[in-house]
Amino acid sequence: MKIEIFSLERTQSLWENTVKYNLTDSGVHPFTLRELLTEEEIESLLSLRLGYGQTNGSIELREAITQLYPGSNIDNILVTNGTAEANFVMSWLLLEPNDEVLYMQPNYNQIGGLAQCFGAKVKNFYLYEKLGWQPSLAEIEEKISPRTKLIALCNPNNPTGSILNPSIAENIINLASRVGAYLYVDEIYRGSELEGRETETFWGKYDKVIIGAGLSKAYALPGLRLGWLIGPSDFISKAWAYHDYTSITAGIISHYLGALVLQPNRRKTILERNRQILKNNLEILTSWMSNFSHLFSLVPPKAGGMAFLKYHFSMNSTKLSNRLREEKSVFVVPGDCFGLDGYIRIGIGANPLLLKEGLAIFKDWLQKNLNS
Ligand SMILES: Cc1ncc(COP(=O)(O)O)c(C=O)c1O
Repeated sequence: MKIEIFSLERTQSLWENTVKYNLTDSGVHPFTLRELLTEEEIESLLSLRLGYGQTNGSIELREAITQLYPGSNIDNILVTNGTAEANFVMSWLLLEPNDEVLYMQPNYNQIGGLAQCFGAKVKNFYLYEKLGWQPSLAEIEEKISPRTKLIALCNPNNPTGSILNPSIAENIINLASRVGAYLYVDEIYRGSELEGRETETFWGKYDKVIIGAGLSKAYALPGLRLGWLIGPSDFISKAWAYHDYTSITAGIISHYLGALVLQPNRRKTILERNRQILKNNLEILTSWMSNFSHLFSLVPPKAGGMAFLKYHFSMNSTKLSNRLREEKSVFVVPGDCFGLDGYIRIGIGANPLLLKEGLAIFKDWLQKNLNS
């Protein structure tokens, strides 16, 4: 099996730890354990016995996860190492050579890349900036067929921060059920809405809906590497068998902390802290953009840790990102990583001081380079 380089992940991994101003993060500034836990909880963490635990997810954690998905029970849940593993296990289990996959673009391109590895035919459908980063239903209708095995969405979306309009979501569900396709929704950004109303989950809307999610983005806990799959119990029981071949289980410390942070009050506090960071940083970014209204435009993100800026000057996005990084140690994601040159993605979950300083340097760089 041949794999294509996962350009977004690889571009970030190469540089994010060596630059001074990393503005590529798509989540919220992570918590420390000290910020998260009481002294008492830290003490009980110290006494935790470091065994394997229950490999499909502790009952306590799966019960906590069911609260986020009305009508689910613990047999609908498989706990994974991050949402990345949930995406992997789902793709590996479902996709056979020549299956058709209808894939939302732009996107965090893991599932599209995996589908190709597994020999499936990927048909992209697009979110359009002129539609406020919504898809065209006519396009989906034209591309879906009885051969479509899977429709894969990312909602809220990375990189645009858009949330599918509910009537469009309903139409996509109807189209999937008309051809009997699985509908997989990566909901890792659910809970990171800037205005607070949580995005409705697709779970429970159709009997072939599967959800992937985790704690890395909306919860600002990527280092826990905790994710999950929610699906029909027979699908989840097969997925568990595949998971035995990937990583066996997520770590027991993450199980323990995951169950804690998903308790309703704790969850609310975490999401509120993160929402404030996102809102505050979006203001920093839009005020920075007001210096350059002729150079940048933005459909404001509704959720998630990033803003997807269109720029109105002629330079390839990879070149722009490379020059900024090499000359000023400021790192932004080039739109090329999403197949959309002419855009850059800037993280709005960062430490505000770092964001401000990075943007100030970017401003100087623009003034110097676009005027000369
Ligand atoms: C949409 C989306 N899904 C999944 C992942 C991977 O998440 P995790 O860190 O939980 O494995 C990312 C990471 O950026 C993402 O943006």
